[in-house]
Amino acid sequence: MKKVLVLALSLAMVFSLSIMTTACGDEENGTLLAVTEPTFPPFDTTDEDGNLVGFDMDLMNAIAEDQGFKVEYQALSFDALIPALEADQADLITAGMNAEDPERQEKVDFSNTYYDSGLAVVVKEGNDKIKGFDDLKGGKMKVASQTATTGAVETLKLKDEGKIAEAVILDGFDTCIQQVVNEDVDAVIIDLPVAQSYMSKQPGKIKTVGDVLNAESYGFAVQKGNKELLDKINAGLKNMKDNGTYAELYSKWFEQ
Ligand code: ARG
Repeated sequence: MKKVLVLALSLAMVFSLSIMTTACGDEENGTLLAVTEPTFPPFDTTDEDGNLVGFDMDLMNAIAEDQGFKVEYQALSFDALIPALEADQADLITAGMNAEDPERQEKVDFSNTYYDSGLAVVVKEGNDKIKGFDDLKGGKMKVASQTATTGAVETLKLKDEGKIAEAVILDGFDTCIQQVVNEDVDAVIIDLPVAQSYMSKQPGKIKTVGDVLNAESYGFAVQKGNKELLDKINAGLKNMKDNGTYAELYSKWFEQ
């Protein structure tokens, strides 16, 4: 009797372990797990009920429907996104991520790009001292950005070169923007379309100054070598551009 019980128990354990290690969505039903960081409107944000929504999710859902798979979304901090793919804890990244980054390309594979973007400098509305990137450089400024982003790379470079007083690297771009509004920092380095989205949410509080710093283009990331999924995403993306869905989603999220 005891032996049967032990056997049943260990079987149950093996079974639940195998469920736990199948971390990537529910692959048998064709559901993949996508990870994102949701303080990046209008690409990645949350609705009133806390659901992950945005241009990235709508576009990926349309691609998935076209290609016969489903996607669930989970929020992580931005610096945890690539490690999640590397550890096989997620299937894809939908996070307005610059695909033209050699360090990232060593760790994950990127789809064809779906949005051309660039970095901007955001300051408080009344600030007339900072008129562009070069005005950050007097050695006195505190500059914020989100951890592990292209903006953080620029911010840390300024700090390393001794050109700013402090690099404030935070988990959320929402907090970065709040710090500018509160005058805890002088500026934020952030993607231009995201700066514009925060500006429209807080009219009269913040502004962008100067020219766009660096051009970048966003792609969806998959695990290194997952050619099957990459091909589906690229085929679906092309179809969404050809059939007008991309344009529809663009006006839904960028022209309101
Ligand atoms: N485009 C920038 C990068 O590639 C920032 C992306 C931030 N995305 C986000 N979902 N928080 O690093």
